[in-house]
This record gives sequence, structure tokens and C-alpha cells, in this order.
Amino acid sequence: MNDTVLIASNEGIATVTINRPKALNAINADVMQALNDWFAKGYQSVDGLRGVIITGSGEKAFVAGADIKGFTNLTAESGGQVSKFGQNTYFLIENFHVPVIAAVNGFALGGGCELAMACHMRIASTEAKFGLPEVSLGLIPGYGGTQRLPQLVGKAKAMELTLTGGMVNAEEAQKIGLVNYCVEKEELISRCMAIFKKTMSKGPLAISKAISAINAYYNIEVDGYKTEYSTFGELLISEECKEGVSAFIEKRKANF
Ligand code: CAA
Repeated sequence: MNDTVLIASNEGIATVTINRPKALNAINADVMQALNDWFAKGYQSVDGLRGVIITGSGEKAFVAGADIKGFTNLTAESGGQVSKFGQNTYFLIENFHVPVIAAVNGFALGGGCELAMACHMRIASTEAKFGLPEVSLGLIPGYGGTQRLPQLVGKAKAMELTLTGGMVNAEEAQKIGLVNYCVEKEELISRCMAIFKKTMSKGPLAISKAISAINAYYNIEVDGYKTEYSTFGELLISEECKEGVSAFIEKRKANF
């Protein structure tokens, strides 16, 4: 792990902080590699991991996009590979086995907005701004933005945001379904923790399988309904479900 991404953990919640504040946390190759390493493997060193917060260093930005200054030496081939590696990294986040929440503390633009969209939920501070400004650079989003934005806000709004390259503030982002909640800056982390307090009291296997089943809806190669019924059956015979059902019948709190 290099110092462009900082990891801290406390009582099962890891905080992943993109740490290039002078460049508004723009994602360069080091940041993307560090994210990939942590979500592929590094997380295993956190004992009892039950949730992840992704946020940005400093006052101004969550992540202002991919590092534009790194684009000048790319070829069609290497540029495509950069995009594919970013997509693969964001798939790791989208399919992560515990809930991942983006705590959006400022600009979430381009690859930063795409990072937030790959998370399972998004909480924005009132100062946050979202957008996919790539067309201003003569580009299109390259880390899954053209696919996830319409999933979250519908095709019309996704077209408008992407084709104009404009930004929306946190309030508007909540209105169009891009973020779950919009809160004062001071409440950003506590609102994430309030959500984790609920998810952490539930069955961890069920949480992980629910993430996979919802993601199946968006994967054209997978039959989501089949995923749902086969997972439902699989969970019914799990120790976790036995405990959950017994706890309900015995009128006590489940001990997962
Ligand atoms: N890449 C590299 N450096 C960036 C950056 C980026 N995406 N965004 C900001 N920075 C740097 C600036 O160059 C500046 O550095 P210097 O002090 O060395 O000049 C520093 O961060 C502070 O930025 P500004 O002075 O521009 O701050 P501002 O408050 O005036 O403006 C901003 C803030 C509106 C976010 C503006 O910085 C901006 O428009 N940034 C670029 C946003 C963007 O286009 N993002 C998409 C990138 S492409 C992409 O992400 C492709 C993809 O999908 C994979």
C-alpha cells in the first residue's frame, strides 16, 4: 500500500481515504493500484471487517477524477488498458462482500463520481458536487460511469449530465437518486456509522449474498431471479439462518 491511499480501521469498519489533497485526490496509477490491492486482498488484514467507508483527504474534494496530467503519454492501447484496470478495480468495490459507503466530502467528478457510484451507498455533504465532465476533455467516462449513472438516475438524466459535462450539487444529487442522503459536513461519517450500526446487527452471510443478488440484476450474463432463488435456498440451510430463525421464535436477539 502506498501513501496515496490511507487505511484505518476501528471496530470492524475500515476507512479508505484517497490522499492526494493537493491534486484534489485525482486518481493516478498509484491510487488505482492501491485501491485494487486493498479490495482484492489487503482487506483480509482487518479483523472482523463489516463495512468500508471511502472518502477523500482535505476540505475540498472526494476525488476530482482520474489524473488528467497522466493522460498525455497514453496511446489508444495503453489508454484502453488504464480504463479496463479502473473498471476492474471498481468491480471489486461493487461486488465487495461487506457494505461499502462513499462519504462524499467535496468534488466527485469523472473517475471520482464513478468511484462513488461503484460503492453500495453514497452519503454526500452539503458541499459535495457531482459530475462527469469528461466530454469537456474530449473523452467519455472510463471507469464505468456510462453504465452506472443510468442505473442510478435513469437514461434521460444520465444523458443530460454526461453530454453537458455539468455538475449537480448534493441536494440535486439526492433528488435524482444519485446519493442516498445529503447531510452537513460534520455529520458525514456519523451518518455512515448509523447505517453500519444497522447492517452490522444482521447476518453477515445474508448481507454479502444480498449484495450479489442485487448486483445480478445489472449483469446481463446472469439470471438475477435464478441467483435469488438458489441463494435463498442456500441460506435457508446455513448456520446463520438457523440462528436468525431460532432467535425470532425464542423472542431473543440473534447472535450472528
Ligand atoms: N487531474 C489532475 N489534477 C487535478 C485534477 C485532475 N482530475 N483535478 C484537479 N487537479 C489539480 C489542479 O491541476 C490543481 O493543481 P495545481 O495547483 O498544481 O495547478 C489542483 O488540483 C487544484 O485544482 P484547481 O486549482 O483547478 O481547483 P479549483 O477549485 O479552481 O477547481 C475543479 C476545482 C472544478 C474540480 C477543477 O480542478 C477541475 O475541473 N478538475 C478536473 C475535473 C475533471 O475534469 N475530472 C475528470 C477527469 S477525467 C476522468 O476522470 C476520466 C475517467 O472517467 C477515467
